[in-house]
Amino acid sequence: MIQIQNVSKSFGGLQAVKDVSFEVAKGSVTGLIGPNGAGKSTLFNMVAGLFPPTSGRVLLEGKDITGLPTHRLFHRGLVRTFQVPHEFSRMTVRENLMVVPAGQRGENLFHAWLRWGKVKEQDRQTLEKVDEVLAFLEITHVADELAGNLSGGQKKLLDLGRTMMTDARMVLLDEPGAGVNRTLLGKIREAIQRLNRERGYTFCVIEHDMDLVSALCDPVHVMANGELIASGPMSELRRNEQVREAYLGGGASGRMGEPSAKNKGPSAGNGEPSAKNGEPT
Ligand SMILES: Nc1ncnc2c1ncn2[C@@H]1O[C@H](COP(=O)(O)OP(=O)(O)OP(=O)(O)O)[C@@H](O)[C@H]1O
Ligand SMILES: [Mg+2]
Repeated sequence: MIQIQNVSKSFGGLQAVKDVSFEVAKGSVTGLIGPNGAGKSTLFNMVAGLFPPTSGRVLLEGKDITGLPTHRLFHRGLVRTFQVPHEFSRMTVRENLMVVPAGQRGENLFHAWLRWGKVKEQDRQTLEKVDEVLAFLEITHVADELAGNLSGGQKKLLDLGRTMMTDARMVLLDEPGAGVNRTLLGKIREAIQRLNRERGYTFCVIEHDMDLVSALCDPVHVMANGELIASGPMSELRRNEQVREAYLGGGASGRMGEPSAKNKGPSAGNGEPSAKNGEPT
């Protein structure tokens, strides 16, 4: 579904991504792991159109999408979530979901929604969809809560909900498990699995929690120091010497087979606009 071909990215003198190639097969939940600063988020940013690669190509369903901006990719069904959730903190959970298709269709459904009398059939469908997404993610009870008041895990669920409001078929998730407690982690895992199995979503997931990666992802690609160093099922990677060394070497955030530190913020200069600190649950 996505083909990453010889993609590299330099920031000044720093080569954050070096000649990385792999595929995300349609219908898969593909994993992307590696120690802090390995270049994982930078690679996502290039695939998702935040900035173009210095060299290399990205294909989506066989078509070259290299350097296409985020909104163009959105229309092609490719969306991503951020390592640190990007919710509108002063809007309610329901409103956060309402405004997603507004951006997509270039019309302000949110204002239409405020003027109840003028709500059209299409808007009614959006409201129904919001209710359906809230129920699917089991967050109906916080629908009218300000998004800023949610726990870290609930924000990650809301992020997933926002992708569900679009017609996304290819979703890039940057650390869906970061800063999430065990209970909500189970919910997030289940939601991803159900979206994949029941609704045909393809996922590429960056994650430090190896238990979550094992449960969700096959295959898994490993990056270290900007390079792709190994690929395969998680069970094999756990035994791979090069992979173990990458995690045990400098800058590692966690060891293979052990869940890494929770509530971790992003590394410095992670290429994400308006990043805030990760919030614990
Ligand atoms: N916009 C930027 N400008 C300069 N350097 C950057 C930028 N974005 C990322 N980097 C650097 O590129 C390298 C890779 O960072 P990246 O955020 O992609 O790592 P990561 O694998 O996502 O790490 P983590 O697991 O901590 O999120 C790091 O050295 C980082 O400091
Ligand atoms: Mg990252």
